[in-house]
Amino acid sequence: MQETKTLSLKEETSAGIHTLLARRWSPKAFSSHAVEPEKLAQLFEAARWSPSCYNAQPWRFVMAARQEAEGYNRLLSTLVEPNRQWAQQAPVLILAVAKLDFDHAPKPNRHAFYDLGQSVANLTVQATALGLQIHQMGGFDAAAARELFAIPKGFEPVAVLALGYPDGQAAPQAGRTRKDLADFVFSGSWGRPAAVIL
Ligand SMILES: Cc1cc2nc3c(=O)[nH]c(=O)nc-3n(C[C@H](O)[C@H](O)[C@H](O)COP(=O)(O)O)c2cc1C
Repeated sequence: MQETKTLSLKEETSAGIHTLLARRWSPKAFSSHAVEPEKLAQLFEAARWSPSCYNAQPWRFVMAARQEAEGYNRLLSTLVEPNRQWAQQAPVLILAVAKLDFDHAPKPNRHAFYDLGQSVANLTVQATALGLQIHQMGGFDAAAARELFAIPKGFEPVAVLALGYPDGQAAPQAGRTRKDLADFVFSGSWGRPAAVIL
């Protein structure tokens, strides 16, 4: 994957970063087209091959396709209302859950959320490669999700992902912005922008 030193993140992503990254966005309108089971399997396989601290693989996913109406509606019901409004179009919802303790030792895994996020990033890149898009949501009731899906102690519901093919008419929101590289890439001392990104 090519890196860029030239892209201004104040602008829309365009040239300079890999097309799989540039083409990713978070739609609020999805096509009603179901996601093929083999593609779903590929997404979770992509998540599976993520790196993780101690190779603990602390990610867990509870997925609900629209055809399984009962489970789908249960997961949908955990979303805050503004998210539920648009996410109900998505053919698949996925609850992303972190395992908080290591398997190999009874101690907290400080990187559990980090590793779950990486696995979702892998899944998201794979989704883009398959023409799918994912809109991640923190706006959901984690306690309700725990209750509704019998999530045991030691596991934390972290996010819900809305997955599907974007609606043909939908396009990334105009004016998507990012911080400038100099605001978060430092060298030598905190806050001193690295020369390579200037
Ligand atoms: C952990 C996380 C939580 C998010 N929560 C919400 C949410 O509750 N509702 C929403 O509409 N978007 C949510 N988003 C989507 C972000 O707003 C979106 O990724 C960001 O604005 C950048 O837009 P882009 O993904 O199209 O590049 C979330 C994204 C992440 C990664």
